[in-house]
Amino acid sequence: MGCGMSPRFERELLMIPGPTMVSPRVLRILSKPVISHWSEEFKEAFLEALRLTQMLFQTEGHPFILPGSGTLGMEAAIANIVEPGDRVLCVENGFFGERWSEIVEAHGGVVDHLRFDWGQPIDPKLVEERLQEADYKAFTIEHVETSTGVANPLEEIGRIARGTDAVCIVDSVCGVGGMPLKMDEWGLDLCLTGSQKALGAPPGLALLCLNDKAWSVVERREKPVADYFADLRRWGPVMRDPSGYFATPPTGMILGLLEALRLIAEEGLENRWRRHRAFSEAFRAGLEAIGLESFPARGYEAHTVSVAKVPEGIDDAELRKIMRERHGVIIAGGLGKLKGRIIRIGHMGSATITDLAATMSSLEMALKILGYELRLGAGVGALEERLLPYLSTP
Ligand SMILES: Cc1ncc(COP(=O)(O)O)c(C=O)c1O
Repeated sequence: MGCGMSPRFERELLMIPGPTMVSPRVLRILSKPVISHWSEEFKEAFLEALRLTQMLFQTEGHPFILPGSGTLGMEAAIANIVEPGDRVLCVENGFFGERWSEIVEAHGGVVDHLRFDWGQPIDPKLVEERLQEADYKAFTIEHVETSTGVANPLEEIGRIARGTDAVCIVDSVCGVGGMPLKMDEWGLDLCLTGSQKALGAPPGLALLCLNDKAWSVVERREKPVADYFADLRRWGPVMRDPSGYFATPPTGMILGLLEALRLIAEEGLENRWRRHRAFSEAFRAGLEAIGLESFPARGYEAHTVSVAKVPEGIDDAELRKIMRERHGVIIAGGLGKLKGRIIRIGHMGSATITDLAATMSSLEMALKILGYELRLGAGVGALEERLLPYLSTP
């Protein structure tokens, strides 16, 4: 194959931080004929998916599976909790954290920002102080900030949430299923995710769970929810008994999600967290071995995505193009103000050790082609060394 060619790979390695690759088991389910949303088969599958959603978020709270992406989940959270004039503290340390304030304002809420530098974790003490300064209806926070690769200290945030009436709303779109999140034990009030990241299903579904504190805020609303489709009180009866009707559920997607959730249950959440941690430590060891600097603050690196600074003199778009066109390996660049400055590699959901090694190998070769100095194999070797202890434990 000539170097200048752009072959189309029938089997690309999708290593962006979502959507991620989907297990053949899930793909097989997605290729099945459409079934009726009134059928007993679907009703049972939906109920099982809802039960597994509670397992995923580690909660006995109220689960919802809605048609839409992660952003719809964020909007449903705000639309149902926040009424016009309510004050909301948006805790921000990256691209997705900053999205919350726009959603709050779109629903008539009054935003106060608590900003941290991109790449730094949020400081729970400052969150606690700010929450005491005003009567906040809610505060928003990222679990994993996908744009920087930072995992925020969520357990401490939960402790703070317990001591306040403000509803703690957590965006775990790039966290849950790949990193520990214990909604009830930690005291988080409303957590959400999308189907396409650490769950290992295709994009298209938003999953939310509300504890009793959050749900009672929804039930005690004075004004109607200004979003007919995302009104959780309209969806509530369907989530308790899927033989009811509000809007046609995406049956095929929900069956696909169920298979992905079953895979998580079979692997075991704790094992899955361990696997993601081992993968992220190994990938970072590989990056370090080839001289790439990690972007997120040390000790706060997410286990679902690795983020590295683009070396001096390297064009990140060119780097990603070489990886895509010559190796069929797809990684992501920076978002917003980090465009051109970082690369982001997702290794979550059903990613495997061989996916990791192939991605590192492709990255090494592409960097070498662009004139970056490195010893080929150094990254893959470091990654393998780091993975050995994990692979040796039964
Ligand atoms: C942390 C986080 N929040 C929210 C979103 C938005 O989700 P979606 O693109 O599915 O609407 C993303 C998407 O990448 C994300 O990573």
